[in-house]
Amino acid sequence: MPQDDRLVMTGLRREDEELDQSLRPHNLREYIGQEKVKNSLQIYISAALKRHDALDHMLLYGPPGLGKTTLACIVAAEMGQNIRVTSGPAIERPGDLASILTNLNQGDVLFIDEIHRLSRAVEEVLYPAMEDYALDIMIGKGPTARSMRLDLPKFTLVGATTRAGRLSAPLRDRFGIVFRLEMYTPEELAKIVGRSASILGMPYDESGIMEIARRSRGTPRIANRLLKRVRDFAQVRADGHITAEVARDSLNMQDVDALGLDRVDRAVLSAMTDKFGGGPVGLDTLAAVTGEDAVTIEDVYEPYLMQLGFIMRTPRGRVCTPLAYEHLGKTPPANYNEKVQQDVEQTSLLE
Ligand code: ADE
Repeated sequence: MPQDDRLVMTGLRREDEELDQSLRPHNLREYIGQEKVKNSLQIYISAALKRHDALDHMLLYGPPGLGKTTLACIVAAEMGQNIRVTSGPAIERPGDLASILTNLNQGDVLFIDEIHRLSRAVEEVLYPAMEDYALDIMIGKGPTARSMRLDLPKFTLVGATTRAGRLSAPLRDRFGIVFRLEMYTPEELAKIVGRSASILGMPYDESGIMEIARRSRGTPRIANRLLKRVRDFAQVRADGHITAEVARDSLNMQDVDALGLDRVDRAVLSAMTDKFGGGPVGLDTLAAVTGEDAVTIEDVYEPYLMQLGFIMRTPRGRVCTPLAYEHLGKTPPANYNEKVQQDVEQTSLLE
């Protein structure tokens, strides 16, 4: 499947990016869902404002598309400060980071997406910057080389990652605030889709919005993307109004099923049921037989399949559950419940 066609792709295409900008909430009040994060953040922001201080460095982690960048922008807006956005892979050398840091102003928010992809050498520059607001630079080479310390303005680093486990311990320890973003409930997603439809001036029924929400894999980015596809369908095949039927027909046509699974999800599940008797099967084997990238399966597809209770990670590999068989309309092998149960028990022993 071409990468561009995918429901769950992590990057944004240009038109989606523009759409995303206009649909993004601009402050905490407009931000729907993540109630725990919002409540804590509200307190931390109010306290920092009261002290006329910068907010502590903050790490956001969780599956892609849940609003990490949006939250970082909101933090800057609520603090009344500017934001500088970059990403781990974009900062190739220590000098790249030094240049970003020395161009920051007092109170600025520096957002580094995919922060787990920073090289060790770049991380080393980040430590004193985070801890002491200082940049250590080497002058000269060899025996006469000496280090000089430059003061940096007090800034807030917001780091985002889909893989908190990949962060080095020293980097993780330097964040004063750590939030895990959770997948959204269909009700929360329905509010987000309704808000987006209103901004875009699209007439809708609540049931139409709910149909889109249920198929959005707990992810606002996907919800907004599906809304746009449904809008096209509604304008060409119906009178532009988003009803449950229009949403259902449009999404079925795009191979997005009633739970939001697409062709790749079904390929992963079918490989497990048809080729490996339901598992356990290793991630790399699964990637090889489906022709997908192992990291994409792990970061993008698995979290939702696990959330649905269709897949479990066990010490011996991934297993799919009887629920997955049921969703595919297949029958599990005899004694399958006991087999899965055994693997689950082993997993809980290890946790
Ligand atoms: N658009 C994307 N994510 C959103 C959220 N959490 N709240 C409101 N609108 C959104």
